[in-house]
Amino acid sequence: MSHQTVIVLDFGGQYNQLIARRVRECNVYCEVKPCTTPLAELRAMDPIGIIFTGGPNSVYLDTSPRVDPEIFTWGIPILGICYGCQLIAHTLGGQVTEAQDDSAREYGKTVTCYDTSCKLFKGLPDQGISWMSHGDYMAKVPAGFSLTARSDACPNVAIADESRGFYGVQFHPEVNHTEHGTDMIRNFLYEICGAAGDWTMEDYKCTAIDAIRKKVGSGRVLLALSGGVDSSVVAALLAEAIGRQLTCVFVDHGLMRLNEGDEVEAAFAKWDLHFVRVDAESRFLLKLAGVSEPEHKRKIIGEEFIRVFEEEARKIGAVDFLAQGTIYPDVIESGTGSAAVIKSHHNVGGLPDYVDFKEILEPLRMLFKDEVRQLGRELGLPEYLVSRQPFPGPGLAIRVIGDLTKDKLDTLRLADFVFRDELSQSGEDRCLSQYFAVLTNTRSVGVMGDGRTYDYTLALRAVTTSDFMTADWARIPYDVLDRISTRIVNEVPGINRIVYDITSKPPSTIEWE
Ligand code: XMP
Repeated sequence: MSHQTVIVLDFGGQYNQLIARRVRECNVYCEVKPCTTPLAELRAMDPIGIIFTGGPNSVYLDTSPRVDPEIFTWGIPILGICYGCQLIAHTLGGQVTEAQDDSAREYGKTVTCYDTSCKLFKGLPDQGISWMSHGDYMAKVPAGFSLTARSDACPNVAIADESRGFYGVQFHPEVNHTEHGTDMIRNFLYEICGAAGDWTMEDYKCTAIDAIRKKVGSGRVLLALSGGVDSSVVAALLAEAIGRQLTCVFVDHGLMRLNEGDEVEAAFAKWDLHFVRVDAESRFLLKLAGVSEPEHKRKIIGEEFIRVFEEEARKIGAVDFLAQGTIYPDVIESGTGSAAVIKSHHNVGGLPDYVDFKEILEPLRMLFKDEVRQLGRELGLPEYLVSRQPFPGPGLAIRVIGDLTKDKLDTLRLADFVFRDELSQSGEDRCLSQYFAVLTNTRSVGVMGDGRTYDYTLALRAVTTSDFMTADWARIPYDVLDRISTRIVNEVPGINRIVYDITSKPPSTIEWE
């Protein structure tokens, strides 16, 4: 089955991936293409609509990215956002200038009034908050266009030529700060482009399985499974498609959370595939003995992972395909949208040198993370696996501060389990982006029963974030923290003091190492 496609033409704005995600959330397939993509290539995609994104430039500068005016003759609806809106105006004979006084520049939340007879704003309240970020101003609107939204500072916040299907908004409907922004995108897709809503993960699963069977034929596929969401979903998809032609090598480095290795193995029990679990704990611990510098730990783990994987691959012999869990944000960030991105496992080590394969297989390379999770659900992977919070490739090794021993890892594993268990029981976990325990290398004096203790301090970390680039520490209620603290000191030997990390990122990072 082929899907209808919308093109998100990328002019360099910071929210471009978000636009694409919003379109996909509306069950319409879209691809992000650089604004330099040849017109013939865009045409060949047979889009039902095109979205011009924002961008950092001013359209009236000679050096700014442009679009070939021919695109306006195709009879395909176009929505321009911010720079994209100004580009429509500029290209079709309007005039865009630098706002002369500050009052015409708009940044941030702005009260905006909409003309709800315009299809883009159909069914919406006639007033709401929109998120603006523009210093340029449409001084003259092109012929054929009417004004469809205004703010106090700006009479022409949105323009439309409904007869030709061209729409432009100065604000960003894709960000959460814009009230009803997703409804506007949905209106563009359904009211204006006539979308059928044919992009669902249920359909994608069937399409992807067919495509994998066709491509792989009777060939053999090898996959390094880390237990993270992406590689687990690739494994499930391939297992469903080609069964025993797939070999998954699950390198258990002994740095996972409590029971995690068994959970991953159990999740794949329902498929008939070659599942190889390599117990490499002692090997990793030996390499890491006495190492306390965080980057050194990362490097050792990345390299050792590759070595273990290679050894298993040698036993298996030549294969036709090496499967990878590359996802769409990696592809977009590579710049061209078509470059091969070879994601290194754990993003520290690199691709194995000695695996004998002919081709890379990347069945998730057009999916966003949310879609990968949904596909995992469609494939019947358990919820604890698909909705898993991010977990660093080097695992608990970078959550035991300083040098590593099996005892310290076991202590941390148990404490981390109690922390997560209490957060889950209280429901607080639903508000958190990432949460974990850290075993510090500080020991202090305590008293338990009638005796003196001299044990480790455990740190608890919980953050909220949308992109993991910045993060805020989570305001977990005191009574929940209290229960966590009481349980950990009672249930986990070796810990007699617990602290809660109340720093944001920046200046801290999320992990301690
Ligand atoms: P930081 O600590 O840099 O973490 O604020 C940001 C996000 O990245 C994760 N992280 C890693 N993930 N390998 C990974 O795969 C690593 O070496 C690594 N270090 C940090 C971290 O858990 C957080 O989600």
